[in-house]
Amino acid sequence: MIRSEDFFRVAQLPPYPLGEIADAVTAARVDGVDVVDLSQVNPSLPPPGFAIDKLVQASLQEHNHRYSSSRGISRLRSAFAKWYENRFDVSLDPDAEIVSTMGSKEGISHLLLSIISPGDTVVVPSPSYPIHMSAVSLAGGALVGIPLFASIEEARRSKHFLDDTSTFFERLELTVSRAWPRPRLMILNFPHNPTATSVDLSFFTRLVEFAKSHNMILVHDFAYADISFGSYRPPSLLSAPGARDVAVECYSLSKGMNLAGWRIGCCVGNKKVISALKKIKSYLDFGTFQPLQIAAAHLLGEHEKLAVEHIGFVSQEYRERRDIMVEGLKNLGWEVDEPLGSVFLWGRIPKEHRHLGSLSMGHYLLKEAQVAVCPGIGFDVDSNEFIRFALVEKERRLRLALDSIQKATVGGNSNEQAARSDSESAGRTA
Ligand SMILES: Cc1ncc(COP(=O)(O)O)c(C=O)c1O
Repeated sequence: MIRSEDFFRVAQLPPYPLGEIADAVTAARVDGVDVVDLSQVNPSLPPPGFAIDKLVQASLQEHNHRYSSSRGISRLRSAFAKWYENRFDVSLDPDAEIVSTMGSKEGISHLLLSIISPGDTVVVPSPSYPIHMSAVSLAGGALVGIPLFASIEEARRSKHFLDDTSTFFERLELTVSRAWPRPRLMILNFPHNPTATSVDLSFFTRLVEFAKSHNMILVHDFAYADISFGSYRPPSLLSAPGARDVAVECYSLSKGMNLAGWRIGCCVGNKKVISALKKIKSYLDFGTFQPLQIAAAHLLGEHEKLAVEHIGFVSQEYRERRDIMVEGLKNLGWEVDEPLGSVFLWGRIPKEHRHLGSLSMGHYLLKEAQVAVCPGIGFDVDSNEFIRFALVEKERRLRLALDSIQKATVGGNSNEQAARSDSESAGRTA
C-alpha cells in the first residue's frame, strides 16, 4: 500500500505557512469575498514592456524552442556580469563565477543539495523565509537557528537596520562555537523577508571575516536587491573584501523587475561553489525557456538604462505604499517602522489583540476585515506577536484594507469574541 508518511523527504518538511494562508484566501474568494491580499509576495506591478517585446520576438524563432542550457546561455551570463559590475560594483567572470537559475528559490534549493552532506549543520537566522529552512532539510542537513535580534525591544531600536556593531555577531559566535558538528554554511537574506531588515557593507565585511575564521560558506539570498528607498542601496555581499573566497549570492529578476513568472535569476560568486551548482543543475534541468533568457539578457544588457529606470519606478511605488501603510497601521496601534528596502512591513500586533497570537490574528483579519496577511508564527516561534504585510496591492486597496482593519479591530467586544472562537479553530489546523 502506498503511504505518504513513507515519502521521507516530503514527510519531514514543515508545513508551508504561506501555502496555508493562500488556501484560506482561495476559499474566501470562492465564497465571493473581495480579499485584499497582503499575504503573498506575488508582484502586481507591470513588467518592463520592452523586455516583453523581445520575448515575443525570440519566441517566434523556431530554434529557441529547443532545450536550452542549464547553466544559462552565455549572453545572459555576460549580461548578469555587466549588471553586477555597474550596479553593485562587483566584477565577475561569466563562465566561472555565474550560473543562471530559475529564480532565487530554485537556486538556493539546488545549491544546498550540491554542497552540503547529510548531517552537516547550517546556520539560518530566524525568523526566516521558509525556503531557507526547507532547502537545508531537503538536502539532509540540520538547522541551527540564530535570532536576528536579541529581543523585541532590540528589534524595535534597530529600526530594521543592522551594521557591524550589531549584537548579532555575539550570538553568531556563541551559536557556532556551541554547535556540533561545526556549521559549514550560513544562509542570509538582506533586505530580509519577513522583517524587512537591511544591512550595510560593514555588516557584510564583518560577516565575511567571521566566515573565513570559522571555515564557513556564506549563501546570500539577494531577492530584494533592487527594492530600496531614499538614498539606501542594498549592498551585494560580494562587494565585501574577500567575499568571493567564501560566499555566493542568489539574485533574481522576480521582484525588482516584476518578472516573477519568468523564473530567471543567477547565482554568483565562489568558483568552486558555482561549479558544484552548475554540475547538479546539468543533471536536473535544461535551463529556463530560451526566449526568456534572451529577453532577460536584452533587458540587463542592451537596455540597462531602461531597466534601471524600471527598478526606480518599482521602488517608488513600494515606497508610497510603505508610507501609507506605516502611517495607517501606527494610527491603529500597531508597532511598525519604515524599512529601507524590501516589499514588507513587519508589524507588532496592537496590545489589545496580542494575546490572540499571529495565526488567530491572521484568520481574524481575513474573516472580519477581508484582509489577508502572513502570521509571524509561520516564520518562527518567537515571531508570534508579529504580522507580515506584503505591499503588493495598489494604494486604493491598501486604504480599503486600513479602513477594514480599523472597523474590525478598534473597539467592540463582539470582535474579540469572534477572534476567540476563531483562535480555537485556527489552533487546531496549525
Ligand atoms: C527571500 C526570498 N527569496 C526568494 C524568493 C523567491 O524568489 P524567486 O522568484 O527569485 O525564486 C522570495 C519570494 O518571495 C523571497 O521572499
